[in-house]
Amino acid sequence: MKGIILAGGAGSRLYPMTRVMTKQLQSIYDKPMIYYPLSILMLGGIKDILLITSPDDQPLFKKLLGDGSQFGIKLSYVVQEKPNGLPEAFVLGEDFIGNDDVCLMLGDNLFYGDLTFFRDAIKAQKEKAGGLNGRVFAYYVADPSAYGVVEFDKNTKKVKSIEEKPKAPKSQYAIPGLYLFDKTVAKRAKALKPSPRGETEIVDLILSYHNEDTLGVEMMYRGLAWLDTGTPRSLLDAASFIGAIEERQGMKVACLEEVAYRMKFITLDQLQKITADLPKCSYRSYLEKIITEEI
Ligand code: G1P
Repeated sequence: MKGIILAGGAGSRLYPMTRVMTKQLQSIYDKPMIYYPLSILMLGGIKDILLITSPDDQPLFKKLLGDGSQFGIKLSYVVQEKPNGLPEAFVLGEDFIGNDDVCLMLGDNLFYGDLTFFRDAIKAQKEKAGGLNGRVFAYYVADPSAYGVVEFDKNTKKVKSIEEKPKAPKSQYAIPGLYLFDKTVAKRAKALKPSPRGETEIVDLILSYHNEDTLGVEMMYRGLAWLDTGTPRSLLDAASFIGAIEERQGMKVACLEEVAYRMKFITLDQLQKITADLPKCSYRSYLEKIITEEI
């Protein structure tokens, strides 16, 4: 399973914060936003990850994350010249995907909770369980109109419709920015026509699987937190949420060095070396505490 994080986009709703720095590098409490989706892919066991950014931002991401070896993963980079739509991620990533399955995560999506559902979905996707070649999720939200929305038939529970940002949503179920597709995804993405807003739409790609009866839509369980980070308010809410959890537990969310160690992507010895190179700060103290507990 390959992983792609799409971190392009103008972040126009966050202007002027995004005038010089892209949304996915803004802070969520104590670390850059991109740490959160990256940690999710790593926790899913995905080690080969392509990061798609705007041309201007690519050097910044490289400065922050490098080739990923410090986290025991392999990071590659590709630029998206213009925000032409989410499906373009698969066109840009075609060679990277090759003959594998791929998990796309949007760089501004944030999840917190038990990720067993995600690991199970990855396993099912690799096995094409149930004859399904693509998998997306459904998450109940108060206002689904800003998202892809999936409607289910009341009796059969089967997918009835999938729409992008409908003015009058037919259900409360939004489709979060976490998608699993098979190797045919690049070919499908290339065949899409732009919508009236001038971009290709992820829902059209999802529909291409649905129309062939090979799409799985799985409910995300209620205790899982899915947070949005598109507006100043939602950015603050996400930061407050992470801050509350971290301060209460004394454990960090999406600390990539810790994730790498717990996933056995790096050894304790490597973790010690990385930690020794960090400036004196609470992030370093946190890693030092983990090291002490592990020795
Ligand atoms: C995109 C997708 C939408 C999805 C959302 C999740 O919208 O187009 O289907 O529900 O991400 O975050 P965007 O937020 O990029 O406008």
